[in-house]
Amino acid sequence: MDTRPIGVFDSGVGGLTVFKEIRQLLPHEDLIYFGDTARVPYGGKSIKVIQKYSNEISRFLEIQGIKMLVVACNTASALALNRLKNECSVPVIGVIDPGVRAAVKAANGGLIGVIGTRGTINSEAYQKRILRLRSGIEVLAKACPLLVPIVEENVIDSEIARLAIHMYLKDFKKVSSLILACTHYPLLKNVIRDYLGPEVALIDSAEETAIEVKEMLQARRITGDESHIGLDQFFVSDSPESFTEIGEAFLGRPMQGGCFLHSWQNDD
Ligand code: DGL
Repeated sequence: MDTRPIGVFDSGVGGLTVFKEIRQLLPHEDLIYFGDTARVPYGGKSIKVIQKYSNEISRFLEIQGIKMLVVACNTASALALNRLKNECSVPVIGVIDPGVRAAVKAANGGLIGVIGTRGTINSEAYQKRILRLRSGIEVLAKACPLLVPIVEENVIDSEIARLAIHMYLKDFKKVSSLILACTHYPLLKNVIRDYLGPEVALIDSAEETAIEVKEMLQARRITGDESHIGLDQFFVSDSPESFTEIGEAFLGRPMQGGCFLHSWQNDD
C-alpha cells in the first residue's frame, strides 16, 4: 500500500478532463493537480520552452511527495514526455500512448484521424506512435488552434463552435476513429459527434489515460488505501479564484481541498 498522492499537470484548466476521469476510476487515491495558468497556452510554444515548463512543474510535484506523475497535457506529452521519464524519480504517464492504443483498436485497420494543438500535430508524436503500433495504417492529422479558446470561453454549444468544427473536420468524415488529442476537445465531443456522425469512433485520451494510471499503480504495487476517501488539491501559477470558477464548470462539482497559488521564482 502506498498512500502518497498522484500528481497531474496541464498547461491550465484543460487537464481537469483527465483529472476527472482519474478521480472517478480511483476514488481512494489522493490527487494533486497543477495548472500552469500563468503560462497557458502551451499549444504554439517551442519544444525548448515546453520542456523547461514541464520540468519545473514535475520538480514542484515531486517535492509534494507524489508517487506517480500524469502529464495531462497533449502538447507537453508530445514534446517533453521522454525527458520527464528520464528525469523523474517516479513513474511518468502521458496521454498519447493510451489514446493511440484505443484509436488503433477502434479503427480496425481503417483511417485514423488526430486533432490537436499546433505543437502536438507538428511534433508528429501521435502519427509516429500510431505507425509504430500498426505499420502501414493511414493517419490524417490536423492542428485546430481555434478549438481551445472556444472551450475556454465556454461557447461549446454555439454556431461558432459548429463553424470551426466544419472548417477543421470537413475531410475527417472518412476516418474510422478520431483521437481528440487535446485536453479541451473532450468537451466538444457532442458537437464533433453531431458533425461526423456515429460511425466515427471518438477517442477521448482522458478516459484511456485514467485506465493506464490504474493499471500502472497495480503493476507497480503502489495502490492506495481502499478505506480512504481520496483528497483533491489544486495548485495554479495564476489567480486561484478564476481557476476555481472555470475548474468547477469543467469538473461539474465544487473543488474541495482548495486551490493554491504557486508563483514561479523568475516571474515578476
Ligand atoms: N493542454 C493543451 C493540450 O492538451 C491545450 C491547451 C494549451 O495550448 O495549452 O495540448
